[in-house]
Amino acid sequence: MSKLELQNLTKAYSRDIVPVKKLSLAVEDNEFLTLVGPSGCGKSTILRLIAGLDQPTEGRVIIGDRDVSPLPPGDRNIAMVFQSYALYPHMTVRDNIASGLKMRNLPAGDIQKRVQEASGVLGLDPLLDRKPAKLSGGQRQRVALARALVRNPDVFLLDEPLSNLDALLREQVRADLKQIFADQKSPIVYVTHDQTEAMTLSTKVAVLSNGHLQQLGHPNEIYKTPANRFVASFIGSPQMNLIPLSRVGNDVALGDFRVPLPSGSTAKSVILGIRPEHLRLPREGDACTVSGDVFLVENLGMSDLVSLRVQGDPSLTLRALLPADATWSKENLRLALPPELIHWFDGDTEQRLNA
Ligand SMILES: Nc1ncnc2c1ncn2[C@@H]1O[C@H](COP(=O)(O)OP(=O)(O)O)[C@@H](O)[C@H]1O
Ligand SMILES: [Mg+2]
Repeated sequence: MSKLELQNLTKAYSRDIVPVKKLSLAVEDNEFLTLVGPSGCGKSTILRLIAGLDQPTEGRVIIGDRDVSPLPPGDRNIAMVFQSYALYPHMTVRDNIASGLKMRNLPAGDIQKRVQEASGVLGLDPLLDRKPAKLSGGQRQRVALARALVRNPDVFLLDEPLSNLDALLREQVRADLKQIFADQKSPIVYVTHDQTEAMTLSTKVAVLSNGHLQQLGHPNEIYKTPANRFVASFIGSPQMNLIPLSRVGNDVALGDFRVPLPSGSTAKSVILGIRPEHLRLPREGDACTVSGDVFLVENLGMSDLVSLRVQGDPSLTLRALLPADATWSKENLRLALPPELIHWFDGDTEQRLNA
């Protein structure tokens, strides 16, 4: 049992630089938590605090039933994989993978067995006798992962491990990671600024901004019910349409069109959110529609990302993802806004209004 718990963790580098503010969360065994947020929001700092490479200003790090806060990194039994692979250039792949184990004076037979297991899982068998200089970026990153896996740590920490790989390889290693970590018992904390990685890999996602935890939940929950405007804009690609609007009775006016507010809402100003993939060509019975002229079509292969100006208020634009084989006209294109897929946020607090 090596549940990881962060209690009220705060890190202040100075009065103005406080990248981690009162962060509390738990990662159970077998859970894959992704910390996601824009560059500079404090993700790496959180990992460094967990690893003991940095000391918190306040708060505690608990692993299993041990408060590890006072312990140096070497006593925490944590494996960390960084964006830059940091392999020993003069050692073979085999020795690089084994390096952490040799330092712990494990019997040679045990080391060999663990290296073989990790190498098999990561497809490194043909490369074991090579030096890092003779490997591709993806292969080097696999070696760094293998080195972490053989250590059998209580917690895995991974800091943007895919961001040095090109797009194709990133997709492939991402799929590998998912399979490899599915069998791991220890909690995993994975850092990325890439929301696709967060969505595909995690059992739990923590969205961070400005040192604050914005939302913690299963990827589907974060996608379906973002807690505030920041999360709504950060998670989902293409980005959600987010339109600030004033209240008109129990509706808002979206150009020439009225959209009913959720019942019971008292907010004076609101932000209407609708994902491009949820705006669609109308079907019979669709009560809530908008129309407008299309000014941009981006071909994404499977679908077209269509931008239109809303009729009645050309300053309002919407982006819709329409199937590539659909037929529609650029002039006065009508789209349905399914009410159950609209996200409402308070115009002032930016917090979610509807369930
Ligand atoms: N040693 C340090 N001293 C002062 N400021 C730091 C230090 N390390 C990080 N920071 C600042 O803390 C903030 C968060 O950094 P970081 O955790 O690396 O963000 P992320 O990994 O999310 O991109 C940034 O503003 C960064 O400049
Ligand atoms: Mg970072």
